[in-house]
Amino acid sequence: MSTQTRQHRITVPEIKAKKGREKIVSLTAYNTWMAQLIDSVSDITIVGDSLGMVAYGFESTLPVTLDMMIYHGAAVVKGTQRTCVVVDMPFGTYQESPQQAFRNCALVMQKTGAQAVKLEGGKEIAPAVEFLVNRGIPIMSHIGLMPQHIYSMGGFKAQGMQEETARKLLQDAKILSESGAFSLLIEGTKEEVAREITSEASIPTIGIGASPACDGQVLVTEDLLGLFSDYTPSFVKKYADIGTQIKSTVKQFSDEVRSQEFPQLCHCFGVKK
Ligand code: KIV
Repeated sequence: MSTQTRQHRITVPEIKAKKGREKIVSLTAYNTWMAQLIDSVSDITIVGDSLGMVAYGFESTLPVTLDMMIYHGAAVVKGTQRTCVVVDMPFGTYQESPQQAFRNCALVMQKTGAQAVKLEGGKEIAPAVEFLVNRGIPIMSHIGLMPQHIYSMGGFKAQGMQEETARKLLQDAKILSESGAFSLLIEGTKEEVAREITSEASIPTIGIGASPACDGQVLVTEDLLGLFSDYTPSFVKKYADIGTQIKSTVKQFSDEVRSQEFPQLCHCFGVKK
């Protein structure tokens, strides 16, 4: 029998119970080592389809496939013990019908071992949310700036800036929460609107470019580390500049290889110390 004790993994009901009691910390991860590094602080680790842009260099999240989310989702679950893992459902895998959504979400849950999945969309996907929740699949809803909708939104633009769009967002949040979503991720939305959604919803809101009033906050980990420099949204706070550190470190390696300073005999096998 193993003497190693497994840590308690945060459950979906525990996340729901944090509303109004403590702030929820959420980060993204796409692979095992990053998931391991953030496990002790991240209450919810999201395997975001932003991996299409951050890890694969695509222009948007739309080319991300179900297989990609399954491979990366399984890698993240493998690297974690404590965090609640939520995997993004990619574009085109859940919008057609509740049945299509169930088939694909069930596959993601089975193949990755994640605790929940995340779906972008407002009231138009509420029937799918209800269908999935009633069949045992916990859903995080993603509203506001929805990267899978960039072509219809005309780019990565803040949402809820006009009265009519703000009203629609409030209505979407209410319907999704009534449909059984366990939390609402609110991205790139007018602060006042995100604040109002948070005060009205009975489920936790997780903000990204939303409001300090949200029940929790998420950032793409590569953004806050300064690892991804192609495009940094204005709502990101860069806590480090690891990209620059990586560049100078590999430059030192290349200089030492060229000058024959590395490797030394101590880095070789069969050499007496
Ligand atoms: O794809 C992503 O990384 C996201 C973040 C906003 C969590 O959806």
